[in-house]
Amino acid sequence: MDEKNEDRRRDEFIVTPWEVKGVVDYERLIEQFGTETITDEILGMLQKYTGELHPFLKRKIFFSHRDLKWLFNEYEKGNQFFLYTGRGPSGNTHLGHIMPWIFTKWLQDKFDCELWFQMTDDEKFYFNQKLSLEETHKFAYENALDVIALGFNPKKTFIFSDIDISGYLYPLAARVAKRITFSTVKATFGLQNDANLGQIFFTSMQAVPAFLPSVLRKRNIPCLIPHAIDQDPHFRIARDVIPKLGYYKPASIHCIFLPGLKEGGKMSASIKESAIFTTDPAPDVKKKIWNAFTGGQATAAEQRKFGANPDICSIYKYYFCLFMWDDKELKELRNKCTGGDILCGECKQILLKKVVSFLEEHQRKREAARDQLDKFIVTYEDLISGNV
Ligand code: TRP
Repeated sequence: MDEKNEDRRRDEFIVTPWEVKGVVDYERLIEQFGTETITDEILGMLQKYTGELHPFLKRKIFFSHRDLKWLFNEYEKGNQFFLYTGRGPSGNTHLGHIMPWIFTKWLQDKFDCELWFQMTDDEKFYFNQKLSLEETHKFAYENALDVIALGFNPKKTFIFSDIDISGYLYPLAARVAKRITFSTVKATFGLQNDANLGQIFFTSMQAVPAFLPSVLRKRNIPCLIPHAIDQDPHFRIARDVIPKLGYYKPASIHCIFLPGLKEGGKMSASIKESAIFTTDPAPDVKKKIWNAFTGGQATAAEQRKFGANPDICSIYKYYFCLFMWDDKELKELRNKCTGGDILCGECKQILLKKVVSFLEEHQRKREAARDQLDKFIVTYEDLISGNV
């Protein structure tokens, strides 16, 4: 076995919609999933329409896509698109979840388009043995507060729970489901014979919002789905089926996972210390950041002498992904780190301050959102009366 293959074996990783394991090689994921890299040409097009590039784009945090060029060509012809994204409401929201939502909000502002936001309370019920349908439904509404807190346009944002509007979604999902075989689902998601029927069916529910506005408005409308790359298998299937129903294939744009505060892996709601939740009080955040994995040396003296390694440091990744969007400032911090001019304690302290101040504001807006829920939530009655 040559050296390269050896490396590959050591770097085994798994990415499915329900599981992310190991250190993810995003270049290889693009190959495996068959998506496309966001090239300079695509960035140039985006810059032309938006006037500036979001740090998520400059830093390749959004790194991959399907059919963006087609979407922009339609846009140039005056064929406006809508945005679609979602959340599996299995618990509280953490910072990893809101990364794609922050980007979605930016896209909504720049393109002044509608956003359809799916809360898959059905999915989380099917996939989590411990959660009741009442619980996932409740989390759908709790998580909606986090979405609203990010400042989406109430006139153009439609949030719905699958369960609430199942009467409207079901006939559409049925049309999708009829065109997907069990063997496709098995091959795409790795589901086995012990999967329950809901799990097998679910991907058809996630496909529907990609053409729901077209159904409602009775005309074909292009769709762009911003999402973390693990959701791509759903949309790979959706893209095969939706044209057969007479609608455009949805385009999509994909981000990496926000790493956890522990070594390796993504921020995971099931490993509580590895994730910062939007509802965390400051002392909890402090504890989590304090215990985070860094690229520091064993002693202060060694660190001053040899410097630390930001490339493996979870704290650095938080600055990079969310908390230091000024490139110059980030570069200075990086130089200090590698040069041994800053110790991990001090660096954590600075991040902590930024995270706590973000969360304080977010939590205030999140509570205020309780009174605004009805401006954002779409009901079955809204849909059948055409009141959307
Ligand atoms: N399945 C997603 C999750 O578990 C939720 C979801 C539904 C979604 N529709 C989406 C995510 C569209 C991204 C884009 O979180």
